[in-house]
Amino acid sequence: MTEIQDKPRTTSSSSLDIAPVTGYIGAQIGGVDLREAQPAAVVDEIQDALHKYKVLFFRDQQIGHAEQVAFARQFGAVTPAHPHEENPPEGFPEILPIDSRRYEQNLGRKRTSYDHSWHTDVTALVNPPAASILRADILPPYGGDTAWTNLVAAYEGLPRQLRELADAIDIKHQFAPRAAEGSERARKVAETNLVTFHPAVRVHPVTGERALFVSPGFTRGAREIRGFSPEQSEKILSLLWAEATRVEYTVRFRWAPGSVAFWDNRATAHLAIADAGHLGHDRVLYRVTLEGDVPRGVDGRESELISGTPFYGS
Ligand code: SIN
Repeated sequence: MTEIQDKPRTTSSSSLDIAPVTGYIGAQIGGVDLREAQPAAVVDEIQDALHKYKVLFFRDQQIGHAEQVAFARQFGAVTPAHPHEENPPEGFPEILPIDSRRYEQNLGRKRTSYDHSWHTDVTALVNPPAASILRADILPPYGGDTAWTNLVAAYEGLPRQLRELADAIDIKHQFAPRAAEGSERARKVAETNLVTFHPAVRVHPVTGERALFVSPGFTRGAREIRGFSPEQSEKILSLLWAEATRVEYTVRFRWAPGSVAFWDNRATAHLAIADAGHLGHDRVLYRVTLEGDVPRGVDGRESELISGTPFYGS
């Protein structure tokens, strides 16, 4: 069963206050100050909550780059900012700025995030990040929310015959160059050329749950299922994308300065909602990612790297 079975609010064995926010995904975590090193029991509890609720929300955290990276390190190796990031904040190679002012400069128009399609972070890599931690700094007065979807619930909601089809197929993930032609970023995207075939259903290495691993933002470019024609691939992918993003599996988060979202990138996809770019306000968030493993399908088969190199952290 994927539905969250808890009472509306649970106080855990430590001081953590865990409040689920929808029936399938998301919990707000109180009673923790992310500036501090957490006792091992609290780290374990946060990790358990992450696996259960898929995305955790923290409010009013007074943290900067150093504290964000230190918090992340308690959960695993932290990767460099992004395979294509050429300009992280000085002294913080792990921080990816998501900054509307950069997009305005590079693309000539303000957008509130680097991508406005449903995606799981960097699934063009053979080892996509295990988790991501995003911190809000500057926000528009309204708009610019982010949504997440529970890919385990999406898998479990499929009819059996469709689950069996999904279990058996591999999908091509590649990086669509969201960069101005001739720009440094476009050069880096082409040079890195990340392409991987992932099983459409990945088994979570910790929970053993099966997730519908279809990452529309990284599979929409190629639209390719191994062994299927382009027309067949297109139709099957459209169906799986729609199932993965059904509104009942989602949660929408309203950011405020100091908000932090921590998501399980092996069991979710997310969407930066494109409803604020036209308003011209700034939106600045900072992301770090934890090193991930190579996905495995239900029969144990691994993802296949076609181009590029694995992405390791330290
Ligand atoms: C991301 O895709 O990692 C960022 C999401 C956002 O800008 O809301």
